[in-house]
Amino acid sequence: MPEPRFAAWRARVEATLDRWLSDPATSPTRLHAAMRHGVLNGGKRMRPLLAYATGNALGAEDHALDAAAAAVELVHCYSLVHDDLPAMDDDSLRRGRPTVHVAFDEATAILAGDALQALAFDCLARAPLDAERRVAMLAELARAAGVAGMCGGQALDIAATGAADGIDLAGLERLHALKTGALLRCAVRLGAIAGHATPTQASLLDRYAEALGLAFQVRDDLLDVEGDAATLGKTAGKDVAQAKATFPALVGIEASRTRLDDLAATMRDALAGLDIDTTALAALARQVVERDR
Ligand code: IPE
Ligand code: IPE
Ligand code: MG
Ligand code: MG
Ligand code: MG
Repeated sequence: MPEPRFAAWRARVEATLDRWLSDPATSPTRLHAAMRHGVLNGGKRMRPLLAYATGNALGAEDHALDAAAAAVELVHCYSLVHDDLPAMDDDSLRRGRPTVHVAFDEATAILAGDALQALAFDCLARAPLDAERRVAMLAELARAAGVAGMCGGQALDIAATGAADGIDLAGLERLHALKTGALLRCAVRLGAIAGHATPTQASLLDRYAEALGLAFQVRDDLLDVEGDAATLGKTAGKDVAQAKATFPALVGIEASRTRLDDLAATMRDALAGLDIDTTALAALARQVVERDR
């Protein structure tokens, strides 16, 4: 079995992002610099890897996946810039560096997030793909970013912070599926569009991605309790401090770990049903469950 091409895919997305983002000397320089700070700073690039791994397994060439991979990462980076704002999680550390509003200022961070989101759609709209696939990708990304996806999930997160509305497990799973799951799922869907997945393949891939999205946030919640800032590159222990609705807070550490194991099994089952080489997707599933940053 060939080794998954993660390093090559990471290099491709770094190059695409660097090309899409303007030179920091471009006016307005403060905004351009803030956008670069929010993006080119060592994220794991999990969403691009999912798009490449999915598309590649379905026979799509890397160049047909570059725009989708970079666009979903830009939306993710924008979501982090805004998530860290004082009005939201009020965080000062991200990817081992000061958050954008700390390194620059709040207004610039708001604008940088807005502009990163617009840049994602701008570049995806001009991707070297046939119009039908481009429109399908734009619609997927818009849906995953908006009120039915990440933004909706962030709204539920804020409403549940402080446990004011006493969220239950079903509510928490919905919150996680939207705030984090939607963009991860979108990355897989973009790969499926690029690779012309059949309806059966698309549905199995979606089952995999749905479990992966929830697992990703359950792991994130556990790392906030068990990790340290030096490894995470972001402040640890802030969920308890801010009374966030998280898996460990609602069901405890052990039950959270058990849920992760169940989700890993769901991902394996979904991949086992596929008639394509799922080596890279299986490796990404393991990374999500086992990661320490
Ligand atoms: C952090 O996402 C925010 C969540 C959705 C849990 P990542 O863990 O993918 O962050 P980076 O991109 O690697 O910094
Ligand atoms: C962030 O969830 C989800 C989005 C940015 C949409 P968290 O608030 O748990 O992410 P971290 O822990 O700050 O990375
Ligand atoms: Mg948050
Ligand atoms: Mg946060
Ligand atoms: Mg978190």
